[in-house]
Amino acid sequence: MGKRENFTSQRAAILAMAGSAIGLGNIWRFPYIVGQNGGAAFILIYIICGLLISLPIFLCESVLGRSTQSSTFGAVEKVAPDSPLKWMSLITVITPLIILSFYSVVGGWSIDYFVQSLFNGFEGNTADTFATLSSAVWKPLLTFTIFLGITALIVIAGVKSGIERFNNISMPVLFILILVVALYSLTLPGSEAGVEYLLKPDFSKVTPETVADALGQSFFSLSLGVGTILTYSSYMKRDSKLIASSLGTAGFDFLFAMIAGFAIMPAVFAAGIEPGAGPGLIFETLPSIFVQMGAISPILSRIVSVLFFLTIVVAALTSSISMFEVGVAYLVEQKHLSRRASVALIFAGTWMVGALCSLSFGPLSNIRLFGDNIFGFFDSLTANFLMMFGSLFFTYLAGWKMDRSKLLAELGGKRVILFFIKYIAPVGILVIFFTNLFV
Ligand code: PFF
Repeated sequence: MGKRENFTSQRAAILAMAGSAIGLGNIWRFPYIVGQNGGAAFILIYIICGLLISLPIFLCESVLGRSTQSSTFGAVEKVAPDSPLKWMSLITVITPLIILSFYSVVGGWSIDYFVQSLFNGFEGNTADTFATLSSAVWKPLLTFTIFLGITALIVIAGVKSGIERFNNISMPVLFILILVVALYSLTLPGSEAGVEYLLKPDFSKVTPETVADALGQSFFSLSLGVGTILTYSSYMKRDSKLIASSLGTAGFDFLFAMIAGFAIMPAVFAAGIEPGAGPGLIFETLPSIFVQMGAISPILSRIVSVLFFLTIVVAALTSSISMFEVGVAYLVEQKHLSRRASVALIFAGTWMVGALCSLSFGPLSNIRLFGDNIFGFFDSLTANFLMMFGSLFFTYLAGWKMDRSKLLAELGGKRVILFFIKYIAPVGILVIFFTNLFV
């Protein structure tokens, strides 16, 4: 095995981690959750939860990765040698691959919509169009394969020439694209209602569930508990500052989510449409806005829709490469496979699971697992259980198993963070877990 690759600078590491964090979660979930849960009141809770709970978990993953210079399995082996914990860590290698499988199906739909916006524009009933597209057999399988294939090609090129280079170019482009769409959206007549939906504080909507929602969103958005941050941190140089990079990543992720809110909600309200979350928001609501816009100015509608779907494809790709890399790093480090062979194996495995997820909107829609189709089952399994498990696992390892003086040294001597890592973060995780389970 050759020398382990590193990101060339702290800036490159932050861009890569922000790339993993910024994705579909910022675009299709955040704006809606904010509006539903009391606007600015929710944003305040989101920031507090992020600082008290998500950031310590982020730091645990960063410390574990950077100090051991290994990805998940190897990191656990070094921190807790001869313990069965390393076998448990395999769960955190598999979780990102499960997420990657269904995330790539959505990535495939996004490619399809990007192509549609580029060549045909949108017309007719956009909800019907989406239902027809997602329940078909071959086209979604093809676009899903293209999305996973692009991800694989970037990962195969390596940490520096693939992942780092792609993020260095695409992250600034992503911010520019979403800013342009937001500025346009804010100029539409009637857009004020969207701004109000996002920002007007309404503390009457805040319940214990709101806090669980805020934490759940923060976990998904920061890609926590799945080993992506740990793996990327293992490519960070020894002299990089972990607290600064965590704050930088979380800051970019939050900023992007807010701008996405200003890109989406003002347009939704200007068109007089009820906001919603999930695939419906991106693939039904927004195209129907583009149809309305097209009646007034076809060119402008075309340009904005192309920019918008390009943003989604790129944002999804910067996240999918981080999930893919966790599996590849495991195979290269632990099974001593070549990078190419590892990429081929991960591609084959995720393709099979992803194909089932894709078909679960069509021919396999009658297969129900705990009431959900295959896609929905994997989505809730990972978001409600596996990501929580992984986060708890990483706080336990860093907070309770790692050598205390080493941990402190990695954290630049900031003792107060230890308290958050050992107590506050694990309690926070258990609170969301049980709220999700029982409420
Ligand atoms: N953080 C990504 C988003 O907000 O879309 C989702 C994600 C990426 C989850 C990578 C998990 C992961 F490992």
